[in-house]
Amino acid sequence: MKIAVLNEPAAGELRVAATPDAVKHYVGAGHTVSVVKGAGKGANFSDEDYKAEGAAIAATNESAVKSADIVLSITGGTKALVAKMKKGAGLTGLLNPTDQPDFAEACAKRGVTAYALEYIPRISRAQAMDVLSSQSNLAGYRSVVEAGSVYGRAFPMMMTAAGTIAPAKVFVMGAGVAGLQAIATARRLGAVTTATDVRPAAKEQVASLGAKFIAVENEEFKEAETAGGYAKQMSKEYQKLQAELTATHIAKQDIVITTALIPGRPAPKLVDKAMIKSMKPGSVLVDLAIERGGNVEGAKPGKVVETANGVKIVGYLNWPARMAADSSSLFARNLRNFLPLVTAEDGSYAPDWDDEIIQGCALTRDGEVVHERLK
Ligand code: NAI
Repeated sequence: MKIAVLNEPAAGELRVAATPDAVKHYVGAGHTVSVVKGAGKGANFSDEDYKAEGAAIAATNESAVKSADIVLSITGGTKALVAKMKKGAGLTGLLNPTDQPDFAEACAKRGVTAYALEYIPRISRAQAMDVLSSQSNLAGYRSVVEAGSVYGRAFPMMMTAAGTIAPAKVFVMGAGVAGLQAIATARRLGAVTTATDVRPAAKEQVASLGAKFIAVENEEFKEAETAGGYAKQMSKEYQKLQAELTATHIAKQDIVITTALIPGRPAPKLVDKAMIKSMKPGSVLVDLAIERGGNVEGAKPGKVVETANGVKIVGYLNWPARMAADSSSLFARNLRNFLPLVTAEDGSYAPDWDDEIIQGCALTRDGEVVHERLK
């Protein structure tokens, strides 16, 4: 089949959906690959690197998608680009279906099958295709590194001839994939690390990383995990108890990293202005949930805000793009593992509609929007 790799059109998107190594694999499997000029630049892969592995370099996204059977992308490109695709072709990416249902409609209109990678079911067989995990893991790591660069002090305790430096206190709110990596990174840097979550399963995972778990562990907490492993929206009463507990803890922290999300809903507000006011000058908050509305009151998308009491709130967007070489490599590997599900034995493009992974992530089929969550 013919594979096209987009030069991501979204502003600030430095990732690319195939690395030269992935191209080598696709070409070795008998596919033809067209990579758009400059597609890998943000991730430090040159057109020559792709050419060396057998890719053709296309001048524009439009020219690359025209004849492609499947288009590999990080965020799916644009509706205008979809309109240029071949009828019956496939498109992969983090398509953000709940926020932009019109994109799925544009794909249906064009007869393109849109695979929303964030909807790949989290079953064991799909772990190697799980872009949410591969990207969140790197985001979690990076959140600590960025916090360190904004924080005017050291993370580890240092005993020197000139005196002792106290270790930083780091509090991670939300111990999913990103949060757990943030905990592990903060611990590696020598910070005294605590964490919270509403899912009981997180307690053991936090402890296994050597951090202290802090949460309101009432009856509601015991039921807070959905069958899919995600957090539920907590009641007003629980939120109040959680806020009380958090308020006393946050006042003593140097760095707070928030990663809390609830699928299909705005991010829960966990840190309010009063809590921020209680923090010491020079403390840092990093809001990883900003793209879904944020966990921290006053966080500004894409900005570092300094409050009147000298607390910095980091609200950078697209954390995986801040380490585009690694995030592209993992994303590309996820896609490599996904592609066999849309490939027939003779190498042609043929989605396996009996496969629950395809059923779980395909938004459109034969000119219709078919996904339950969009209907
Ligand atoms: P996520 O990105 O949806 O949310 C991040 C974290 O925020 C979650 O741990 C969630 O419980 C927490 N959270 C939500 N509301 C909160 C609140 N009010 N206060 C504090 N924390 C709150 O989650 P992510 O990272 O996608 O992981 C969700 C689950 O999926 C985890 O159990 C994870 O272990 C599991 N998972 C399973 C995989 C598989 O089986 N293939 C792969 C990756 C993750």
